[in-house]
Amino acid sequence: MNVLVTGGTGFIGSHATIALLKKDHDVTIVDNLSNSKIDTLRAIENVSLKKVRFIELDLLDIKALDCLFKKNKFDIVIHFAGSKSVNESIEKPLKYYFNNVYSSIILSQIMKKYDVKKIIFSSSATVYGEPADIPLKESSKVSILNPYAASKYYIENYFREYQKQNKDWKIILLRYFNPIGAHESGLIGESPKVPHNNLMPYILKVASKESEYLQVFGDDYDTEDGTGVRDFIHIMDLAEAHVSSLDFISSNQGPDGFCNIFNIGTGKGYSVLEIIETFSKVNNIEIPYKIVDRRPGDVSQSYTDVSLAKKSLNWKAKKDLSDMCRDVWRWKSSQLKKNN
Ligand code: UD1
Repeated sequence: MNVLVTGGTGFIGSHATIALLKKDHDVTIVDNLSNSKIDTLRAIENVSLKKVRFIELDLLDIKALDCLFKKNKFDIVIHFAGSKSVNESIEKPLKYYFNNVYSSIILSQIMKKYDVKKIIFSSSATVYGEPADIPLKESSKVSILNPYAASKYYIENYFREYQKQNKDWKIILLRYFNPIGAHESGLIGESPKVPHNNLMPYILKVASKESEYLQVFGDDYDTEDGTGVRDFIHIMDLAEAHVSSLDFISSNQGPDGFCNIFNIGTGKGYSVLEIIETFSKVNNIEIPYKIVDRRPGDVSQSYTDVSLAKKSLNWKAKKDLSDMCRDVWRWKSSQLKKNN
């Protein structure tokens, strides 16, 4: 298929592009490079030994987007582009409405103009907030705790309504849990321009001696060891979920469209201490840590029921926490060697 990938130089977009190229899809990436580097494009090509078309473009630039669709006949759009920092979204909520919500509306309008009626959208498990029931199902209660989560949920609702008005559209909304890891080659991983405050980037800082110790935010949660629990998923498993979603859309050839939501995680909850321990063990590196206060806005635990994705998309995560920790360190070590 001829696939347009928005945000294709970001962490998830770049790894998904590798998975798509492996299945011989034709990929065009658009990205405004606001939080990703052009080097990622070379890395994608080095890993996949294939060429990718790249256009530096901001989705808010309606003219440029129109021109792109006029020149190319895309079969489907996979829409990753967007801002993704919870903290920043609290400081600058409007940025999230523009960059995430408004750009998605523009994209859908241009797609309609050029008769492209299939889209896979990157949503997030962040829409569940503090889970009302666990494991989380697609039907679980949504609870919006910050503007980032709100922006993702608005887009989901927009596409749901959009599909009701445009019944032949085929839409998949993927709610990602916590992607970590890197491609097993060690040639590509997560490299944002602005560092973010997620757990794995901090573990890597400690492992590479950039930081003395890791702060563990709270050990008094109602979980087995008291630390937060998340459904960490290997980035390549997550990438494969997009290939499966694309196959799902292609195999539903009939005239009737749909708008389906799928949770994408491993189905297992891993605690912060469990991750520290696994990382230390598989990489033989000590990760000193100190327990500090809870981080405001954090939920105690979050992991998904995987049955719907398994049944409908015929997809499930294959890699375990050791794979995630080993692959992410392989990538980080290669970066450290390069910079020395
Ligand atoms: C965060 C975002 C979430 C987003 C997700 C994307 C917040 C409040 N939530 O989720 O909206 O979808 O990233 O990946 O920012 N931890 C430490 N020490 C650290 C960093 C994290 O103990 O230095 C703990 C946290 O308290 C949490 C766990 O590690 O229990 C995971 O944290 P993180 O990687 O930031 O992910 P989320 O909180 O799930």
